[in-house]
Amino acid sequence: MGPPLVYNPYSFTVHDNPFDTYQRLRDEAPAYWNPDLEFWALSRFDDVQQAFRDYETYSSAGGVALEARRPIDRAHPEYHELIEIDPPEHTALRGLVSRVFTPRRVAGMEDEVRRIVNHYIDNIIESGHADLVVDLAGCFPMDVISAVLGIPASDRDMVRECADRGLIREDGSMEIPKDAVEAIFEVLAYFTEDLARRRAGEVPSRGLISDLLELEVDGRALTERELLGFCLLFSFAGFETTAKMVANAVELLSLHPDQRAALIADPSLIADAVEEVIRFNTSTQYMHRTLTRDVEMHGHRMREGDSVLLLIGAANQDEREFGPTARQFNIFRRADRHLGFGYGVHFCLGAALARLEGRVALEEVHLRMGDYIVDHDNKVRFHSGNVSGWKNLPISFTPGLRLQSVAV
Ligand code: HEM
Repeated sequence: MGPPLVYNPYSFTVHDNPFDTYQRLRDEAPAYWNPDLEFWALSRFDDVQQAFRDYETYSSAGGVALEARRPIDRAHPEYHELIEIDPPEHTALRGLVSRVFTPRRVAGMEDEVRRIVNHYIDNIIESGHADLVVDLAGCFPMDVISAVLGIPASDRDMVRECADRGLIREDGSMEIPKDAVEAIFEVLAYFTEDLARRRAGEVPSRGLISDLLELEVDGRALTERELLGFCLLFSFAGFETTAKMVANAVELLSLHPDQRAALIADPSLIADAVEEVIRFNTSTQYMHRTLTRDVEMHGHRMREGDSVLLLIGAANQDEREFGPTARQFNIFRRADRHLGFGYGVHFCLGAALARLEGRVALEEVHLRMGDYIVDHDNKVRFHSGNVSGWKNLPISFTPGLRLQSVAV
């Protein structure tokens, strides 16, 4: 028996390296109850997948972040996100936007994504050193999602900064810091005004946000709450997860030089490498659900109304699913059954886009600055509840030449 098993996702120690705790959860307490923070945690692949599938029992309507449990919503009832709506209402709303993110539509964005990635690489390539997060991974996905949504270049830094601030959490605490709440309100105020200006014709019609103003669901226009929900969800979910994933990939590959050398020699391996990064250390470690009925799970009775965390990060390293090497990073694994993008009705709408962005970024990084050395002593964690990634990832590499001088 080791020390008592405590899983607090907000503890920086656990957040920075949750994998040993995940192992103990899977083996010793597959239905784990945290009495202080009052949540259950499911960690085995089959249980997490089954819970994602059973949306009637595991409802998203109580919020998908444990700490949220809807305080922002209560203070700001105009804001209603697709990700926190259960079927059947969810089905019609998702249908409105899903066509924009189909693999076919997304494939048509490849040249633009590559141009944006190369713009950021051009800014650093001559110097031979950079912060991979600040200078590349933490920037380009905001430009990509902004191009889709129609957020002008002049406003992207503000949205990006609010997204980062909105996710920051303090060590061990479930409280949402004041600055994080303020950041959400700032971005909501921005989108509220932006929607008004679009409606008034004060700005040109552009992107998905303008399309949403024209679209109807069940024969009616979208409400302000729904519109704001889409703006917030897409600009945050479409940015943070992908930004963190790309930096996670570079950090992991720097620790596995043989695998990095293999994908430089054969870039066709990069798509599988992206998939393995999302399996091995996904940027979205868990999602929150609220039980709509009592459930028996591994000898425990979880009660209606209880909070349940679906630990994607733990499920993705479950030996029961991925075999004895589940806890090893291996780009040759072909991990196509991971839960990194969720499962079922809320399966990540942006999965094809995230995969494209990850592949293109890793292709260009390994083509143009593939001998990068990560300064592991000075890398800094991004501390949030369920998002795993880096705030700073300093790198150095052999300087190269710029390709273009086009603004994004
Ligand atoms: C590596 C990058 C990404 C990861 C790891 C990720 C992960 C996830 C996960 C786990 C879910 C399921 C949430 C749940 O079941 O409660 C989800 C949903 C979602 N994701 Fe992503 N995501 C990524 C990139 C993106 C991108 C680029 C977009 C931009 C369009 C996006 C938009 C969404 C939306 C809109 C949903 C909600 C779908 C629904 O409720 O029907 N994601 N994502």
